[in-house]
Amino acid sequence: MALYSEKVMDHFQNPRNVGKMDDADGVGEVGNAKCGDIMRMYIKVDQDTQTITDVKFNTFGCGSAIATSSMATEMIKGKSIEEALKLSNKAVAEALDGLPAHKMHCSVLAEEAVRAAVKDYYDRNGIEYGDELRQCDGHCESCGHEH
Ligand code: FES
Repeated sequence: MALYSEKVMDHFQNPRNVGKMDDADGVGEVGNAKCGDIMRMYIKVDQDTQTITDVKFNTFGCGSAIATSSMATEMIKGKSIEEALKLSNKAVAEALDGLPAHKMHCSVLAEEAVRAAVKDYYDRNGIEYGDELRQCDGHCESCGHEH
């Protein structure tokens, strides 16, 4: 059996939504404590509907990080912020038909980057949020969130 699914290879070789967003409403940057890789996620938010209308990402991460982030951007684009916050790294890995166990930690980068971008959006707009997000300082091991 191949180590990586066709979907992982596709998203790694043709990542969706790569780039920078100059007029982003929220930017999240997170680092993966296990490997030192970093990820930056940009979101554009429709203020009236609290919907994520556009997403971009940049990463100094491995192939699995690129593939999971690419898939994560597709999964949250057009969704409400509330739904985006529910996105788990497991759900992203499942949507990619799985990741090797030793690469699951790479998918955490995508989930945390989404959460950090939303937190930044909330901070910029003075929107209150719960403790779970408040603890999220971009280092997944310290946020207490279950992965
Ligand atoms: Fe660092 Fe995959 S090895 S994100």
